[in-house]
Amino acid sequence: MTALHSPFEEAAEVTMVHLTGAAAAELTLDPPNWSEQRQLAHRMLDDIFDHLETLRDQPAWQPVPAHVRDSLREPLPRLPQGEERAYQDFLHNVLPYASGNRHPRAWGWVRGNGTPFAMLAEMLAAGMNTHAAGGQQAATYVEEQTIAWLAQVMEMPVGSSGIFVSGGTMANLLGLAVARHAKAGFDVREEGLQGTHQALVVYGSTETHMWAQKSLEFLGLGRRAFRRVPVSENFQIDTEAFQQQVRCDRAAGFRPIAVIANAGTVNTGAIDDILTLKKICEEEDLWLHVDGAFGALLKFSPEYRHLVAGIELADSLAFDLHKWMYLPFEVGCLLVRDAKAHADAFAAQASYLEKANRGMLANGLPFSDRGIELSRGFKALKVWMSLKAYGTETHGQLIAQNVEQAAHLEMLIRKHHKLDLLAPRVMNVVCFRYRPQDHMGVEEMNKINREIVLRLQESGEFVVSGTLLRDDYALRVANTNHRSRMEDFAALVEAVVRHGDDLCSGASPASM
Ligand SMILES: Cc1ncc(COP(=O)(O)O)c(C=O)c1O
Repeated sequence: MTALHSPFEEAAEVTMVHLTGAAAAELTLDPPNWSEQRQLAHRMLDDIFDHLETLRDQPAWQPVPAHVRDSLREPLPRLPQGEERAYQDFLHNVLPYASGNRHPRAWGWVRGNGTPFAMLAEMLAAGMNTHAAGGQQAATYVEEQTIAWLAQVMEMPVGSSGIFVSGGTMANLLGLAVARHAKAGFDVREEGLQGTHQALVVYGSTETHMWAQKSLEFLGLGRRAFRRVPVSENFQIDTEAFQQQVRCDRAAGFRPIAVIANAGTVNTGAIDDILTLKKICEEEDLWLHVDGAFGALLKFSPEYRHLVAGIELADSLAFDLHKWMYLPFEVGCLLVRDAKAHADAFAAQASYLEKANRGMLANGLPFSDRGIELSRGFKALKVWMSLKAYGTETHGQLIAQNVEQAAHLEMLIRKHHKLDLLAPRVMNVVCFRYRPQDHMGVEEMNKINREIVLRLQESGEFVVSGTLLRDDYALRVANTNHRSRMEDFAALVEAVVRHGDDLCSGASPASM
């Protein structure tokens, strides 16, 4: 072996011996010494728990410094560096530079924090390393049960079908794929969209998340098939305009198939009038797909579930457990009211996956039949274990707490003469801006507020994001954070005004 000149020499040597199989005739990646592996494992757990326990003392986010970026650009490791070296590199070059969503003062975009317990569940799922397409194994029953529990939380009928996927985008995409298959009027799976059939069109408000555009492109319908219906002052879909557009499209020879209802838009948390949309869908024979990425989780809360009344009537409902159930990435969920329609859109056969009455493939591969993926991990485990550990009650209380914190922030903004609320707050999303003087123009205000968002992030104080509401740039707080306290929101108001005042008194916005 060539001489090693790294501090990890010893560990690397151990690994070399292990991989070259000095003791055994054949290679394996199991540890040569299980008790040493256990020690490393315990140290890893201690380190990550120290990290999580002290999150509040760490920056909310920090950029990756140039020297760390350099260290992460390495030649392909041909020889073993050793587990210790790999772990130390993780500790020093990876762990400190996360995406700024776990901290108590992080409310950017819509991202949950993760929980220590669900992290452990992830570890156990990886330990089991189960292939969760279905078949005779506990994971199948755990996922079916967890889907049934979530259908119950969402007040969807018993027997609704469902699947866990990577996130909201994927859950929504699959929901639209089911809608396309169910409502196209021809066999899309057999014929594809290459034929001479009527062009299919889908509706959703101008506030619909970008997943819709990507999904329509991906499903072969094309961007033009997405009819963007205008919204009211409150950013809710104009239901009359929607119905009129459906009728115009039909008269012009298109085939309307589905509407996407928002139960919590990404920008402001606006909730469409889902009961009216359902009625129109019945009249017009359309599929009702609800994007409840985070809003649907309000169903956990007895105080606030009325806000999303009607989502239980959806033909398909997508939501994210890695948002407002606070679970670690990734896990989203699609529920489909008609289990047959769900399977019809995806189920496929192959001789090498033949369903049997006995053995590992007894009962087939239900999760392969409800989506695109065959190989899939055991995402359900962290959902199942978290629901068992904390119950729906705790989740409902946490969600209510987040809504009440957002209401508190709204109140602080309304009271502050230098802050403007830019959209009605319905649930956990608050959009506002710094406005030092009444006469300041929109462009200048937008520049200042963009800079405030960056300064909040770069100072490590807070992670908030921004968005454009019509022409106004808004600071956006989406509170899906189980670690935040009321005092964090008062601190945010103070910091926004402080950065805004600094900007107005010092660097001119033009130089930003
Ligand atoms: C309303 C809404 N729909 C869909 C998505 C996409 O979800 P994901 O990021 O899990 O793919 C988001 C993400 O924030 C969202 O807010």
